[in-house]
Amino acid sequence: MRQSGPGCYVPSEFPIDDWVSTMAETETSTPLEEQDTLYGQLGGAPVITEAVDRFYRLVLADPELAPYFAAADVSVVKRHQVLLLSSVLGGPQSYGGRGLDEAHAGLGVSGPHYDKVAAHLLDVLADLGAPAHIAEAVASTLDAVREQIVEHPVPAGEGAR
Ligand code: HEM
Repeated sequence: MRQSGPGCYVPSEFPIDDWVSTMAETETSTPLEEQDTLYGQLGGAPVITEAVDRFYRLVLADPELAPYFAAADVSVVKRHQVLLLSSVLGGPQSYGGRGLDEAHAGLGVSGPHYDKVAAHLLDVLADLGAPAHIAEAVASTLDAVREQIVEHPVPAGEGAR
């Protein structure tokens, strides 16, 4: 997987349309490298763009998940979905910023909510015709980073789930 160097790869004010067109340019300039990644195998930038769009809509339409993003504006939320998808697929826009644990610290992402986001992502990939080996690899990456994102223990006062 290509690394994007130190620091957050995308400044927070970077508009999503530029971001997506950057992905498309990267796609045409380095198709061979991308064929080695799940990102490339899935169809590269056009399919990922569609996946981000669907994933974004599903997460924000989910009343249990939308509150996590309530304070963020649309471009931040979309950028999040791009980073999430690209990270789990090994796409060109690798995230070189804060660790996932630091990025999610204090958000209080619960296990069931993490699993819902994962399920929405896997649903989107299935709807877009992703083959089984891609779904399996994404599921195992989602398992691998789960501990960094889900908060333990449940904060006092919230009770057991
Ligand atoms: C594989 C799973 C995930 C990955 C790879 C991922 C990736 C990231 C990254 C890279 C950032 C930092 C963005 C930045 O520094 O600008 C971030 C922030 C964030 N993530 Fe995730 N995320 C995942 C799962 C989740 C889940 C399950 C939730 C909530 C249900 C969530 C909610 C958030 C929120 C609210 C932020 C802060 C956004 C902001 O800057 O305001 N993430 N995530």
